[in-house]
Amino acid sequence: MALRKLYGRNCRGLLQLQQHRGENEPAFASIFRERQCLRSQQQQQQVAKMASSSTANYRESVVPKEEVVRFIADCMCKVGTTPEDARTVAHHLMTADYRGHFSHGMNRLQMYVEDIAKKMTDPTAKPRVIRDFQATALIDGCNGLGQVIGKHCMELAIKKAQQFGTGIVSARGSNHYGICGYYSLMAMEQNLIGFSCTNTSPLMAPTRSVRAALGTNPLSLGMAANEGEEFVLDMATTAVALGKIEVAHRKCEAIPEGWAMDTAGRVTTDAEAALDSSTLFPLGGEEKNSGYKGYGLALMVEVLCGILSGGQYGPNIRSWKSDSNVANLGQCFMAIDPEVFAPGSKDRLSHLLKQLRELPTSGDASVQVAGDPERAAMHKVEKEGGISYHENQLKASEEFAKDLGVKPMQLIKKIEIKQSNVF
Ligand SMILES: NC(=O)c1ccc[n+]([C@@H]2O[C@H](COP(=O)([O-])OP(=O)(O)OC[C@H]3O[C@@H](n4cnc5c(N)ncnc54)[C@H](O)[C@@H]3O)[C@@H](O)[C@H]2O)c1
Repeated sequence: MALRKLYGRNCRGLLQLQQHRGENEPAFASIFRERQCLRSQQQQQQVAKMASSSTANYRESVVPKEEVVRFIADCMCKVGTTPEDARTVAHHLMTADYRGHFSHGMNRLQMYVEDIAKKMTDPTAKPRVIRDFQATALIDGCNGLGQVIGKHCMELAIKKAQQFGTGIVSARGSNHYGICGYYSLMAMEQNLIGFSCTNTSPLMAPTRSVRAALGTNPLSLGMAANEGEEFVLDMATTAVALGKIEVAHRKCEAIPEGWAMDTAGRVTTDAEAALDSSTLFPLGGEEKNSGYKGYGLALMVEVLCGILSGGQYGPNIRSWKSDSNVANLGQCFMAIDPEVFAPGSKDRLSHLLKQLRELPTSGDASVQVAGDPERAAMHKVEKEGGISYHENQLKASEEFAKDLGVKPMQLIKKIEIKQSNVF
C-alpha cells in the first residue's frame, strides 16, 4: 500500500493501523524507509535537473512564520499528535529556523514523523511527575515528543523559581527536544535566568578516540539585560551540531576541517563522509586544539542529564536515527531568579555587554555576544516577510507534504532589502 494512502488516513486511523500490526511488524517502517531512500535518489536527480526559473522562484520566496507553524502542525497532527502538542512542536521548529538554526527546524520534522511511524516516539504521551521536592522535580517523559516534555519541564522550573528563587527539573524518558535556547528564552520571558541541556545519541568521539561515545550534548544559558539586550548562549559541545553537516550536505557543500572524521578516523571536509561516519570532534577539534575541553563540557552535560535523571547515558543511548529501541534521553532545565541574589544584576549585565561590544577589533566588524547572530537572523526574517529556506529544503518539504497528504507550505514573494538595512 502506498505510504501516502497510509498517511492519508486520519490520525486515529493511522495509530490503529500501527497497533494492529503488533510490536514486531516492521512493514510500516520499512515502507517508509524504502520510500525515503527512493525519494532521496529522486530528489538528487531533480536537483541536478532543476530548471533555473524554478530555482529563481524558490530563491525569491519566503514562508511567513505562521505558515511554517501551520504546515508543521498539520504534519504532526497527521501522524497522531494532538493539535495542542503539534503546535508546541511546530512553534519550536519554526523558532529554530527563525533564529537561523536551520539544522534544528524544518530539517528535523521528517525525523520526528519517522520516529512516530516506527513507534519509537509516542505522539500522545504526556509527561508524568516521578518526584517533586521543593525546588526540584524528576519527570518521566513517557517517551513522548521532546518539545512537549521540554516545555512542560521548563514551565515547572519557572514555577519553582518564582516560589523558591530557583527551580531544577530533571527529565528522563525523553526524545530529541530541538534547540536548547528555546527553553532558556521561556525563562527569560519571566525575568529569570534560563538553562537547559540534553544528552543525545552518541556522535562525538572523546579526545584520542575514533569511536563516538557521547552525544552532541548541547547546552544553553540565557539572561535578559536592559532595553532588549540579552545574552543567549546556545551551543552543541561538539565542534558543530550534526544538523549543520546535514544542511551542508543538502546544499552539496564541503565542511570545514575539524568538524568531523571519516569512517577511518581521519579529519574530513566531505559532508557525505562525515554523515557516513557520524563521528564528530568535540568543540575545539583535535587534542592539539584543546578539543578535550569540549569533551569535558559534553561529559558535564551528561552528568546533568542521563546521570542525574536515570535515563540513558553516553554510548548506551541508541545510535543516531536507529529504531532498535526508544531513545530514553535525559534533559535538565533550570530557572534562576537573579533578584534573590545581589540586586542590580540586569544593570551589571547591560554594562558588561556594552563593554564587550565596545572593545577594539582587528577588522570592521564589532564584537558580538552570544545571541546576536540569532537576533540578526530574526531581523532578516522580519524584513523579508518570512523565513527564507534553501530551495532543497523547500523541495523536500513539498514532497513530504505529498507523502503525508497535507497542504504544502504556501510561499510568498520575498521583500527585497538593501544590504545596509540588514541588522
Ligand atoms: N537537541 C539536540 O539534540 C541538539 C544537538 C546539537 C545542537 N542542538 C542545537 O543546535 C543549534 C546549533 O548549535 P551550534 O553549536 O551549531 O550553534 P552555533 O555554533 O551556531 O552557535 C553557538 C553559540 O555561539 C554564539 N555565537 C555565534 N557567533 C558568535 C560570535 N561571533 N560571537 C559571539 N557569540 C557567537 C551563538 O549566538 C550561539 O549562542 C543550537 O540551538 C543547539 O541547541 C540541538
